[in-house]
Amino acid sequence: MRVLEIDHPLVAHKLTVLRDRTTHSSVFRQLADELVTLLAYEATRHVLVGPAEVETPVTSMTGTKLTAPKPMVVPILRAGLGMLHGLTTLLPTAEVGFLGMVRNEETLEVTTYANRLPEDLQGRQCFVLDPMLATGNTLIAAVEYLHERGARDITCVTLLSAPEGIAKLEAAIDPEIDLTVVTAAIDERLNEKGYIVPGLGDAGDRLFGVVD
Ligand code: URA
Repeated sequence: MRVLEIDHPLVAHKLTVLRDRTTHSSVFRQLADELVTLLAYEATRHVLVGPAEVETPVTSMTGTKLTAPKPMVVPILRAGLGMLHGLTTLLPTAEVGFLGMVRNEETLEVTTYANRLPEDLQGRQCFVLDPMLATGNTLIAAVEYLHERGARDITCVTLLSAPEGIAKLEAAIDPEIDLTVVTAAIDERLNEKGYIVPGLGDAGDRLFGVVD
């Protein structure tokens, strides 16, 4: 498993504003969108491309274009939805599947309550969107799900990651999966409630408001 922590002043700036407890949801959504677009630049570094002939106004040449099959972007509901536009801005031809997952805030166990994905993901590059890699339980379940459907090349894009979650994900996934985690920052630790410290709080609530 590769972990890329993106070291860029714009990433650090936007992340700091996201962390600020006084940042309003509308600004949070806008900045999360911009931040994901910056992360997507690295996350798509190995996207499938091939040679393509092109006529310029001057001559013809062999350029490079995205090839089939189309990449699959999988936001994990609810908070991953706040990252979808940022990623598809850079990959507009990608298809989008959905996984609905919720964690029990007491046991920290994850339940899948919805999925809308193709049955066959063989040969597809998958980009999983989840803002917080905390305990790792959600991403382990999501990566296993995609793997069962044949995906081998999976990139998880997160805003923040905890060292505990990264270690758990790495230990849990099948080594045949080519797995990359792209994150804006690796924070210090998890607290006793499974929140990332210093973190940014509950990403879903910060994006969309509190739902009881
Ligand atoms: N999920 C969140 O939204 N925030 C955390 O800090 C951990 C998990």
